[in-house]
Amino acid sequence: MQAYVLTQYGPAKDSLTLSTVPKPTATKNHVLIKANLLAGTALSGTVEEVGPDCTLFKVGDQVMTEPGLSILGAFSEYVSVPEDMVCEKPVKLSLEEAAAIPVSGTTAYQAIHKFAKLQAGQSILINGASGGVGTAAVQIAKAVGADVTTVTSGKNMPLMKQLGADFTIDYKTQDFTQMDKMYDCVLDIVGTASISACCKVIKPDGIYVSAGSLGSGMLIGNIADVLGCKMNPFKSRRVELAMNTPSRDALREVKELVDAGKLKMVIEKRFDFNHVKDAMEVLEAGHVAGKIIVRVSS
Ligand SMILES: NC(=O)c1ccc[n+]([C@@H]2O[C@H](COP(=O)([O-])OP(=O)(O)OC[C@H]3O[C@@H](n4cnc5c(N)ncnc54)[C@H](OP(=O)(O)O)[C@@H]3O)[C@@H](O)[C@H]2O)c1
Repeated sequence: MQAYVLTQYGPAKDSLTLSTVPKPTATKNHVLIKANLLAGTALSGTVEEVGPDCTLFKVGDQVMTEPGLSILGAFSEYVSVPEDMVCEKPVKLSLEEAAAIPVSGTTAYQAIHKFAKLQAGQSILINGASGGVGTAAVQIAKAVGADVTTVTSGKNMPLMKQLGADFTIDYKTQDFTQMDKMYDCVLDIVGTASISACCKVIKPDGIYVSAGSLGSGMLIGNIADVLGCKMNPFKSRRVELAMNTPSRDALREVKELVDAGKLKMVIEKRFDFNHVKDAMEVLEAGHVAGKIIVRVSS
């Protein structure tokens, strides 16, 4: 089968090579999925084989998965993953839309419910609301019944309104940390303001949740800051690092919201499998609205 192999660290154009590699098989509790659509470490597709210990799936099922660290990336024609990392695709969505759910949808869901524990009537500011995680987080926070303020560039303000945001701040002209309104939660997905600056707009009993950092291009950029704040006995606000835990249960929680019509995935661009490097270059530039999807097969 064809798969992109990571041959070195660095930008995708230098590090990814399209290669022919052995096709995996479904052993034990694994299912072999023929990928239709990919989104980096997430994919949707069709079950082609089930392992002898599988009880949840059969050949032909249309599924989505977020294999986590069990495979390093999903840029391949087939993946074999444990069935407890796999979920049926939402009834109302195409496979294409379903590919956008794992990782972004589950990270947003866990940030809002597990870490922020957001309640109806509370207020949340989402910094970096126009990316894959952010566009899902806006809708999930609205589904809770919260008052949602988003921070994006001006071009994404109409998208924010469409997703239900109550108020939007343009980061190119306004600094949200210098504004008067106080929030029950700041969910920071881009890490462009320091935690102490964000705390100025968080109510005394509120919470700062970090889910990502554009600066380093990786979540790792925020870990040291968040841990430092968590250990500081003089800190006045709660601080949490929202790490996504991939699982079938996490996917099912998001699927339920999608099936209830409360969450739609935003897809900005589609690329063919032989243009994965172009897709990654666009992603690495850091200005995608929603998700980028790669078509592997129809
Ligand atoms: N916690 C986890 O387990 C987990 C899981 C998945 C992803 N992540 C991390 O989450 C982060 C975001 O990922 P993503 O896929 O949602 O989005 P992304 O594609 O990395 O980010 C793109 C978005 O960021 C916006 N942006 C750029 N500069 C900004 C600024 N100064 N202020 C506010 N927004 C800005 C861009 O909007 P404009 O075009 O308008 O600038 C664009 O819509 C990444 O660091 C990723 O590694 C963490």
